[in-house]
Amino acid sequence: AHTPRVFSGIKPSGGLTLGNYLGAIKRFVETQGQGMDTIYCVVDLHAITVWQDPADLRNATREVAAGYLASGIDPDQSVLFNQSQVSAHAELGWLFNCVARLGWMNRMTQFKEKAGKNAEKQSLGLYAYPSLMAADILLYHATHVPVGEDQKQHVELTRDIAAKFNHDYKADGFFPMPEPVIEGPATRVMNLRDGTKKMSKSGESDMERINMTDDAATIAKKFKKARTDPAPLPETYKELSERPEARNLVDIYASLSDTSAEAVVTEYAGAGWGQFKPALADLAVSKLSPISEEMDRLMKDPAEIDRILGKGADRAREIANPILERTYDIVGM
Ligand code: ADP
Ligand code: NA
Repeated sequence: AHTPRVFSGIKPSGGLTLGNYLGAIKRFVETQGQGMDTIYCVVDLHAITVWQDPADLRNATREVAAGYLASGIDPDQSVLFNQSQVSAHAELGWLFNCVARLGWMNRMTQFKEKAGKNAEKQSLGLYAYPSLMAADILLYHATHVPVGEDQKQHVELTRDIAAKFNHDYKADGFFPMPEPVIEGPATRVMNLRDGTKKMSKSGESDMERINMTDDAATIAKKFKKARTDPAPLPETYKELSERPEARNLVDIYASLSDTSAEAVVTEYAGAGWGQFKPALADLAVSKLSPISEEMDRLMKDPAEIDRILGKGADRAREIANPILERTYDIVGM
């Protein structure tokens, strides 16, 4: 049996958002020290599936690393590294390009959303992204993948790739079937201006997202301007099912305060947004400002971040390279 091992990653494709924090980083920190191996990656090979200015990419890679560290990822307890420094990711990604079927890739909703009507203009890398993501996970024989809801389909594809590889090469049980771990009240934090879209670092307007590095005044302004319907908070969480913007703010509050969304609604039943939004802003500032101050401090010493990532890459290679060698051997190489 495979020992429990956690793998997840974040793209350095812009500043980190509250969605990345609540849906990913905060949960990665909570998973640390629970008796599982924890491996966290800055997935720069994924970032370049859409154009990244080289200087911005270098900076964003360090900023994602700083976000992990400032939030409590301990590089002694977890393996923390940058994907492109471990070439086995790209190598296994190629092998999986030869396992995954075109029909499977055609079903990936994230590609369709990102490509929109311009599929022909997208990079081949953006299309093959889920196959590289399968390599990221399976290269470590990871069994658990904490992600936001948007990544569920990609983890399911990872299972399909693992199963087909094991079957085609008669390598029963070689790759484990990883489980997506999608838990807590903030697995899909929505855009503050359009409650039908998820909050994302690559969204168009800065007002639609909270950045982890926003200052207190900016956070207060963005929540104040967040779109909501005019009705006050209801008596029960169920009554928010048709009110996505309102539900989103309640979910964010619940996740930030480590409580359930039901408990938040009970506490604020009947309150108006003029009361709830400032309370939410204060809570977000109290949680994010110590992290962004620490990110600032870390970003002043890029050589130290690079050193931590370099050591992490050494540890990642120690796990990944033997698994890649066995994979090549199974394939006949
Ligand atoms: P982004 O979509 O902001 O570019 P990534 O693709 O790098 O972020 O995703 C990194 C992790 O953060 C993934 O596990 C993803 O599911 C999670 N995540 C991203 N946005 C959100 C969100 N709005 N709500 C919850 N989780 C999110
Ligand atoms: Na994403």
